[in-house]
Amino acid sequence: MSEKLIIFDTTLRDGEQSPGASMTREEKVRIARALERLKVDIIEAGFPAASQGDFESVQAVAKAISDSTVCGLARALDKDIDCAGAALAGARNSRIHTFIATSPIHMQRKLNMSPEQVIEYAVRAVKRARQFTDNVEFSPEDAGRSEEDFLCRILEAVIDAGAGTLNIPDTVGYAMPEQFGLLIAKLRQRIPNSDKAIFSVHCHNDLGLAVANSLAAVSNGARQVECTINGLGERAGNAALEEVVMAVKTRKDFFSCHTEVDTREIVACSKLVSSITGFPVQPNKAIVGANAFAHESGIHQDGVLKSRETYEIMSAEEVGWSANRMVLGKHSGRNAFRTRMQELGAGFASEEELNAVFFRFKQLADKKHEIFDEDLQALLNEAGGESDDERVKLVALKVCSETGEIPCASVTLKVDADELTGAASGGGAVDASLKAIESLVNTGTSLTLYSVNNITSGTDAQGEVTVRLEKGGRIVNGLGSDTDIVIASAKAYINAVNKLLSGKDRTHPQVGEV
Ligand code: KIV
Ligand code: ZN
Repeated sequence: MSEKLIIFDTTLRDGEQSPGASMTREEKVRIARALERLKVDIIEAGFPAASQGDFESVQAVAKAISDSTVCGLARALDKDIDCAGAALAGARNSRIHTFIATSPIHMQRKLNMSPEQVIEYAVRAVKRARQFTDNVEFSPEDAGRSEEDFLCRILEAVIDAGAGTLNIPDTVGYAMPEQFGLLIAKLRQRIPNSDKAIFSVHCHNDLGLAVANSLAAVSNGARQVECTINGLGERAGNAALEEVVMAVKTRKDFFSCHTEVDTREIVACSKLVSSITGFPVQPNKAIVGANAFAHESGIHQDGVLKSRETYEIMSAEEVGWSANRMVLGKHSGRNAFRTRMQELGAGFASEEELNAVFFRFKQLADKKHEIFDEDLQALLNEAGGESDDERVKLVALKVCSETGEIPCASVTLKVDADELTGAASGGGAVDASLKAIESLVNTGTSLTLYSVNNITSGTDAQGEVTVRLEKGGRIVNGLGSDTDIVIASAKAYINAVNKLLSGKDRTHPQVGEV
């Protein structure tokens, strides 16, 4: 009989450790809701002891989520465990994930601790975590480079102390699939009380093997995989959730387990994470890349038209590609709009909130006659990134761009109660517009990312712009969409500025207080 493979998503924790992938508390909650719709079993929401902002984010996710278990990461230190326990206090189902490094290089050079001390800390941490929840996970960090005998000793001790999940991380992405699979098999065989815990894996992608290593572990009895949407994560990233889940689903003849993920939510979740973090998905990325189901060669097209299975091992619909279906138009009413938005996962807190997004939909439908699911998703992304306490609003934007002339822009903003107008010239219309905005808001930030993606095809398609602003360790991403990419760029910049001014951004975990 097929056993359950637990899907532990760490997009909000390890994913956020990708350089630049900072998320506000509200953004984390939106992603957590999308993960819950995807039916992941566990959401690792953050590292509460890293900063006050991380603490509050985990707390907010814990409050917002009821179906998935919410997890907080903690080093094997009393203060981290207590902090995670406090942040998770409001969760319906919670887990504390505690870790300490076990490889010789980490114990000697990073921790300056003996192996005996490391075991002592691990056992103490698990026991302390059990005072907050029955659901405790332990990770021997850098297990991929740790000695097998030592792993057996420490894991046996933490199971006795009350850890129900043993997560084996390949922290630096060093393992090879066969070797890593064998490690899981040996640990399960050699640890006397191994049947009392679930084995999990957490693989990094430094050699491009994170998914392969995770699947090798599954073949050898691991029953939890830690992964992230789009493979986001520290350095080269973590195992991509969509690839692990679809491999297990598509090759159920090979794996003796299954997940309970609703795969039709994968693409929506991937797009949300990509737009919030500003990390685009490469077109040839498995499952969620724009070309993942596109057939270019004549032979392939002919085969697929005759029988889809000739060249496709999964269907695009199965993972949530909607094939650009035209869903609404200029004459669509509020009810049809509300219904489709709800199908896309939108929850409106009030009629006013619905009306505000409906108003924008009507404005868009005037400019663009066919409104696709992707356009609605962009409206949601934009509205979700805004808040009631926005201090800066775009009133008007005018740009001049002419061959042989220097582009210039004039912008009027409402900043608190004042209406201000500024002008600037630049290398292009976008550059001039952003400089004009900056001349009025004076954030002093550097623009570290600017990217434009077309939401659907056609010259009347909306462009979705992401900007990333950085100043003294604070990083914010801003998002804006419009059929005019200069206006989309201005909206994205203002969105980022509002996050900075509201103080809702969080210090990036890599420059946090830990
Ligand atoms: O990569 C790693 O080792 C981790 C641990 C905290 C599980 O992220
Ligand atoms: Zn990691």
